[in-house]
Amino acid sequence: MTPTLAGMQVYEPQIEKVLISAAEIQAKLAEMGERITADYQGRRLLLVGVLKGAFVVMADLARYIRLPLEFDFMAVSSYGAATKTSGVVRILKDLDHDLDGMHVLLVEDIVDSGLTLNYLLKNLRGRKPASLEVATLLNKVGLQKVPLDLRYVGFEIPPEFVVGYGLDFDERYRNLPYVATLKPEAYGG
Ligand code: IMP
Repeated sequence: MTPTLAGMQVYEPQIEKVLISAAEIQAKLAEMGERITADYQGRRLLLVGVLKGAFVVMADLARYIRLPLEFDFMAVSSYGAATKTSGVVRILKDLDHDLDGMHVLLVEDIVDSGLTLNYLLKNLRGRKPASLEVATLLNKVGLQKVPLDLRYVGFEIPPEFVVGYGLDFDERYRNLPYVATLKPEAYGG
């Protein structure tokens, strides 16, 4: 299932350092999928992805979960500078599902300040799901402005701006199969 690196050379001049390789990501998602499979036996599981970044994590993670499950997506926008979150969240696309009786697992690519996630959790909790937990591939250490209970965390990473595996800078790099930092000149436009 590991995507090939062929064709990614086009991004290479901008990459500073690969923090997490494609193989490491897949191994971790397989592990998370095993835990989720064990924890959600016999429950009606709904994976909720936050667009756009989470779609890559969700696609791979879902295939490591050996249970019947359903997908839904939300799109949000946070106002503020390109590489910082302001915490003000606007829902651009809401869920199609009614959450009543569903076991909801919110899938995130990255938790940074946690403000976006905090807002979403409050919002989803208000819809009375049977349970609500979070699975995130990346968690930036030391940056959370609000206490969050993250049930499944792939990797703790330093507080640097990263791209790849769904994460973008200016809408680019989402299709990199690994997580990397960019050279300073890549931000120059
Ligand atoms: P938070 O509200 O600060 O936790 O950040 C939420 C969103 O900001 C994430 O879902 C990402 O879309 C974006 N974000 C935060 N850190 C990064 C990063 O290092 N690279 C790319 N996007 C990021």
